[in-house]
Amino acid sequence: MRQMTLIGFLQAQNCTNLASSWRHPRSRTDSWSPDFYRHIGRVLEAGKFHLAFFDDRLSMPDMYGRNHAHTVSHGIRCVKMDPVTVLTVMGMATTRLGLGATYSTTYYEPFHVARLFQTLDLMTDGRAAWNVVTSLNDGEAQNMGRAEVIEHDLRYDRADEFMEVVLGHWDAWEDDAIVQDKVSGLFARADKVHRLDHQGRFFRSRGPFTVPRSPQGHPVVIQAGQSGRGKRFAAQWGELIFTAYSDFQSGKREYAEFKADVERLGRDPEHIKVTHLINTVAAATKTEAEDKCAEIEKLPLEIDALSLLSEALNFDFATKGMDEAFTDKELAEMSGLQGIRDRVLRVKKNPTVREFIQISGRGRLHNPIVGGPKEVADRLEQWFVERACDGFVLSATHVPGTYEDFVTFVVPELQRRGLFRKDYAGVTLRENLGIPVPEVTRWRARLSAG
Ligand SMILES: Cc1cc2nc3c(=O)[nH]c(=O)nc-3n(C[C@H](O)[C@H](O)[C@H](O)COP(=O)(O)O)c2cc1C
Repeated sequence: MRQMTLIGFLQAQNCTNLASSWRHPRSRTDSWSPDFYRHIGRVLEAGKFHLAFFDDRLSMPDMYGRNHAHTVSHGIRCVKMDPVTVLTVMGMATTRLGLGATYSTTYYEPFHVARLFQTLDLMTDGRAAWNVVTSLNDGEAQNMGRAEVIEHDLRYDRADEFMEVVLGHWDAWEDDAIVQDKVSGLFARADKVHRLDHQGRFFRSRGPFTVPRSPQGHPVVIQAGQSGRGKRFAAQWGELIFTAYSDFQSGKREYAEFKADVERLGRDPEHIKVTHLINTVAAATKTEAEDKCAEIEKLPLEIDALSLLSEALNFDFATKGMDEAFTDKELAEMSGLQGIRDRVLRVKKNPTVREFIQISGRGRLHNPIVGGPKEVADRLEQWFVERACDGFVLSATHVPGTYEDFVTFVVPELQRRGLFRKDYAGVTLRENLGIPVPEVTRWRARLSAG
């Protein structure tokens, strides 16, 4: 029977996706300590989650008013640690949990990313995954030596070539290259370790790559593009896909379209897992969950939304009065996560700042699934069984509470219904996701055939 994929959506920062989460009475206050991440790792592994996934951004959200004072004083994602280092700590505290982190194709070199993640994969017995993002705002550009962010589609063109270099390096060592014959003195067969010699439009990288293949071949590739260009990229390269569908019906439609795109590219749609972003507030009963939700809904401030919208859309919302409408020109200038803008514009053509905040829901708890085991499991079952997704990326309203509640109240119910496995299938992330070890150079043959 088809089994649901479950992913914990984590941040190596001072709050969750909900910027106000650090004010929650039961949030831990040591989110920059190793024990915080060891604890979350153990909770997710006890719940048999497939993956702990860390998002990333390479700057504080300081676009609003072009100043970081509000960011720091309100604790709006102002601490951001390197996710791979944090992931390594989590990997040392677990043995089966998959470990995914975000790294940008715009600000790192492909050789570096290939080596970092392949090493992580070896050091975690084949449990690593890389979320490929192209980054989105000027703050990140300015921290990484550029004046401003590169244009949206061009970022994806670079990212395509980035993937060819990374996958090329990951293919450098054939599976039977290493001999280690101490008697003859042969360490590895030179004819089975290849130089890449890549020279393209954006990148140059020679090789040979210096890290052999891992028990799962190479890390699982995660992608979350939502625009037309982004989805094409995801269909080409992604093995685990994150989506944020606006509702069940559009989810069903977009999921089917995406799987058809994947198939057209010569890939097996059953080997590409599509997971949908959710917020849950779970408890022993529906009433208790509603009380918990009311407590969470009191946390957000208006400044959270203003700051996060400015960051995500690369547009300073402080240049406008709260009741002033955006002009067409201003709306066109918004770059970054344009999907947020487009969702707002579908409801209101020229919204005011206040309306933009309300319609986008940014900075607040968005469409949470609130309930006891039955209510939450019913919703997840419907999305999964009726094929709007293959599983879920669980975002937290406070940590570790959201994950503990989900593991205590929801996981046993999903297991009882036969929707979610009772134990890990193996050690590597690919074994647990039910996706095959990639054959060396298979992706290149597919690209040439297409
Ligand atoms: C669950 C999820 C996690 C994401 N994590 C990150 C992240 O860590 N860093 C980032 O810059 N973008 C992240 N994104 C944004 C996507 O990479 C992508 O840019 C976005 O969905 C917009 O699509 P587009 O790039 O095709 O316009 C995430 C998106 C989703 C749905």
